[in-house]
Amino acid sequence: MIVVRRVRPGEGDSYRQVRLAALAESPAAFASTYARESSLTAQDWSERARASAEGWQRAAFFAVDDGDIVGLVGGYRPKPASDVIELVSMWTHPSTRRTGVGRLLVEAVIEWARAGQAQEVQLWVTRANTAAQVFYRAVGFTETGEYQPLPSDPCRDESRMTFAL
Ligand SMILES: CC(C)(COP(=O)(O)OP(=O)(O)OC[C@H]1O[C@@H](n2cnc3c(N)ncnc32)[C@H](O)[C@@H]1OP(=O)(O)O)[C@@H](O)C(=O)NCCC(=O)NCCS
Repeated sequence: MIVVRRVRPGEGDSYRQVRLAALAESPAAFASTYARESSLTAQDWSERARASAEGWQRAAFFAVDDGDIVGLVGGYRPKPASDVIELVSMWTHPSTRRTGVGRLLVEAVIEWARAGQAQEVQLWVTRANTAAQVFYRAVGFTETGEYQPLPSDPCRDESRMTFAL
């Protein structure tokens, strides 16, 4: 059975592995790059895991299937007092897609954002990434009409989507 749970302090290595797998598998989906994140140190990942494991500033959730991490999502407040949560790093392993894991991961961020008194969850999605746009609409997000260049590849655009809590 697949379980979605928050990252734990001390899981920097697992966080690194799943994030690099996502960046390698779907490079055009993300604002960051494999080259950039593969250069981060074990200490950087350890700090990311620690900061994402508790509290209301940032969080990361793993989808775990019998001990294997098959999905990842993150959320963070762009400013400490922001009532908007940015949803980032959304990825499910290709072998688990269309089985509801992505939905469970988004729900984990929404639940965490609500518990932390946020008002809205927002994200950027690459405009050419039709599957992800259809997915986000299916789980309740709507387009705001804003666009910007994708930071990892400015030849592409990304579109803003929002979910009111
Ligand atoms: C987008 C992504 C996260 C979806 O994850 P998933 O685990 O397949 O999502 P779910 O199974 O929970 O899908 C929920 C619903 O979204 C819609 N959906 C998901 N993927 C879809 C696709 N490829 N085409 C059409 N609809 C899709 C469907 O309505 C689906 O429900 P259904 O299967 O009962 O019809 C996954 O495809 C992925 O990791 N893609 C690569 C990385 C990426 O693009 N990340 C987004 C960064 S902004």
